[in-house]
Amino acid sequence: MLIAITGASGQFGRLTAELLLDHIEPASLLLISRSPEKLADFAARGCSVRKGDFDDRDGLTAALAGADRMLMISGTRVGFREPQHTNAVRAAQAAGVGHIVYTSFIAADPGNPSLAVKDHLFTETLLHASGLEWTVLRDAQYAEAVLDAMGPLVVATGRMTSLARNGRMAFVCRQDCVAAAVAVLLGQGHAGKTYNITGPELLSYGDVGRLLADVSGQPVQFVDTDAEGLYALFDSLGIPRQPVDNLVVSNVPWNSDDMVSFEVAVRDGHFAILSDDVERLTGRPPRSLRDLLMANHDQLLAAAGAMRAGHASHP
Ligand SMILES: NC(=O)c1ccc[n+]([C@@H]2O[C@H](COP(=O)([O-])OP(=O)(O)OC[C@H]3O[C@@H](n4cnc5c(N)ncnc54)[C@H](OP(=O)(O)O)[C@@H]3O)[C@@H](O)[C@H]2O)c1
Repeated sequence: MLIAITGASGQFGRLTAELLLDHIEPASLLLISRSPEKLADFAARGCSVRKGDFDDRDGLTAALAGADRMLMISGTRVGFREPQHTNAVRAAQAAGVGHIVYTSFIAADPGNPSLAVKDHLFTETLLHASGLEWTVLRDAQYAEAVLDAMGPLVVATGRMTSLARNGRMAFVCRQDCVAAAVAVLLGQGHAGKTYNITGPELLSYGDVGRLLADVSGQPVQFVDTDAEGLYALFDSLGIPRQPVDNLVVSNVPWNSDDMVSFEVAVRDGHFAILSDDVERLTGRPPRSLRDLLMANHDQLLAAAGAMRAGHASHP
């Protein structure tokens, strides 16, 4: 069986490739990327590496030749992924892929105002109607988003600015999402299933602020704001409102339309979903946000220090 991964050069793709190689031969793994040169290390180990882009349906169809299963890692153009994901599903159909495993987002339900959810709901519907076998992995918000982006800002400024009030979500570590994806890619009986890939506990932004204060040893004040206030904060950091491919600002790769609409959905309870699907798929419980932050305490403080130096005048 040949397993393909699209968008393979990113964090999720590389971690998945690494874990798959614990179980399958390199010749059974096909890595597809807009930048195949970034995967030269995997090519040297015997994996197939081909160029493929969600913006080029024909090229992606050619790249998928021979693949039996495909991990379709959602793209980064949040709010604008419908044409890209349509290309990916159509390319898989044309190439004869039998089963698509898709990284969706938690609470991809109609009525959820999060911009990210809109794309994922569209893609899930596309998969249901594709005639292919599919499995949807609805990943919760990555815990790494707290470690890499939210945490440094909060620790640097001593302020957790949010509009989400007491809304809660179950942050999940990326490695647990990867382990769940690998279990599905290598397993049987997952066709037509949708899994909620969550961490072990529901937390509010206030809870996360207290956790960051605890881990960093520095006080954190919760600042209740509204959409306008949150946009002003992200604008001050130079984060674009709409997505810009491959742009990372102050460690934050996302656009503020995404993040503001996300917090509105958190506030209104859409993301308050807790599941045991990680443990059922992987055989072990998911890692907690506290554990991730404690294990990466030095990295968090260093990133906060760098942010303090770079953005001393920001709120
Ligand atoms: N649940 C969450 O909290 C959360 C948070 C962040 C992201 N996500 C989603 O999860 C995905 C994986 O996360 P990550 O941490 O691995 O992100 P990442 O390191 O930024 O990687 C993003 C991936 O998107 C792929 N991509 C971007 N544009 C593409 C295009 N036009 N065609 C094909 N692939 C494209 C890239 O593939 P190549 O460069 O190799 O072509 C890259 O591997 C993200 O893309 C996003 O959809 C979820």
